Amino acid sequence: MPSTLPDGDPVPADGSLPDQAYVGMADRSLSFYLHVPFCATRCGYCDFNTYTAGELGTAASPQSWLDAALTEIDLAAKVLGARGNQRPVSTVFVGGGTPSMVGAGPLTALLDGIRDRFGLTPDAEVTTEANPESTDPDLLGRLRDAGYTRLSLGMQSTSTRVLRILDRTHTAGRALDVVGWARSAGFEHVNLDLIYGTPGETDAEFADSLRAAVGSGVDHVSAYSLIVEPGTRLARQVRTGALPMPDDDVLADRYLLADAALTAAGFSWYEVSNWARDVDARCRHNLAYWTGGDWWGVGPGAHSHVGGVRWWNVKHPAAYAAALAAGSPARRPFDGEMPGGFRSPGRAREVLDADARRMEDILLRLRLSDGIAVDELLHTGRAAARAAAADGLLEQDWWARGRAVLTLRGRLLADGIALRLTD
Ligand SMILES: C[S@@+](CC[C@H](N)C(=O)[O-])C[C@H]1O[C@@H](n2cnc3c(N)ncnc32)[C@H](O)[C@@H]1O
Ligand code: SF4
Repeated sequence: MPSTLPDGDPVPADGSLPDQAYVGMADRSLSFYLHVPFCATRCGYCDFNTYTAGELGTAASPQSWLDAALTEIDLAAKVLGARGNQRPVSTVFVGGGTPSMVGAGPLTALLDGIRDRFGLTPDAEVTTEANPESTDPDLLGRLRDAGYTRLSLGMQSTSTRVLRILDRTHTAGRALDVVGWARSAGFEHVNLDLIYGTPGETDAEFADSLRAAVGSGVDHVSAYSLIVEPGTRLARQVRTGALPMPDDDVLADRYLLADAALTAAGFSWYEVSNWARDVDARCRHNLAYWTGGDWWGVGPGAHSHVGGVRWWNVKHPAAYAAALAAGSPARRPFDGEMPGGFRSPGRAREVLDADARRMEDILLRLRLSDGIAVDELLHTGRAAARAAAADGLLEQDWWARGRAVLTLRGRLLADGIALRLTD
């Protein structure tokens, strides 16, 4: 028996899944996440699994990453197609890192790979993230032609001062230009990411960012409070006193500001940090994460989840490419059989039992505007929900109809409330 790793169980070399993953599989939707591990420069606040050219050296390249990612799509087709469970893909999300940096060729090849091996549902949502500075009208036109339907852009702020503190290399105006180009290219849905609570940011600066975002023509806004991630340049600046820690009360006020401005502009929240103009504009890919859907994460460090089985890939692009290169010579044409010598890039996995799945489900779904049915909670969790409703943290009218849905004040305390409901 292989020994259990400290952070999970080993993934079999052929990537095969335990029986549990296949139960009810044909009735669940399937999504793909594709991770692009490259950035031109690293923003001081960001601890994502991404590398600049200087950090990578000759250990890995966009080409070795692309070859490996296409091979992993083949592996997914074999593993998920086992036992006649082949399903078309409902949502694809290319994230990073900076997908726009690798250009239209690799992003088209990846989407074609998924289309060839699985097919896409007729209404598939296909998103790519992009940085304003590496996105232009030509790239957007080519991505739209390739089948991308949704663009998600990191704008963060309209304040030049705030952008500088965040180490962003673009102007705010560039992000707004890209929204216009994306609409002209025919993208059905466009999102802007905002960050609030950057040290030194004023209420007026954040209000201006919100005004610009809603005036830009997007149909979706994500607003995240700045998290000081350990090990980042921002964490060092806070530790040495060069920058103050974002203040909790300020963060709460900014959240209220965001909700008021976005609601007044016709957006509605559907997840604590996400607002959309209408139901069609909600990100179906992220909803699949939050409602326990199946997704396969392709790329270095990418996480996957299929029927309560969760696994994650080796983190470094060189280790990822090496794991998949073993099977690559006979990769095409694909006949449903992986060549011998193939190795899964999975580093470890965990098989969630029914209780762990129930708890995770509550933690994720309480953050949604649909909330959760009270009768899904156990005895202690129901008592905690009753107390939260009495404290004004859950909507009274929904409570009367048997659902736990966060109020605006409840959204400020979402994770703490959700934890109490899991008991
Ligand atoms: C992969 S990036 C988006 C695409 C692109 N790389 C960019 O930054 O424009 C995902 C988003 O995560 C958010 N993010 C990353 N680190 C964060 C942190 N420490 N605190 C808050 N938001 C963060 C940023 O809003 C960023 O736009
Ligand atoms: S925020 Fe985006 S551009 Fe900045 S380092 Fe992270 S992934 Fe790269």
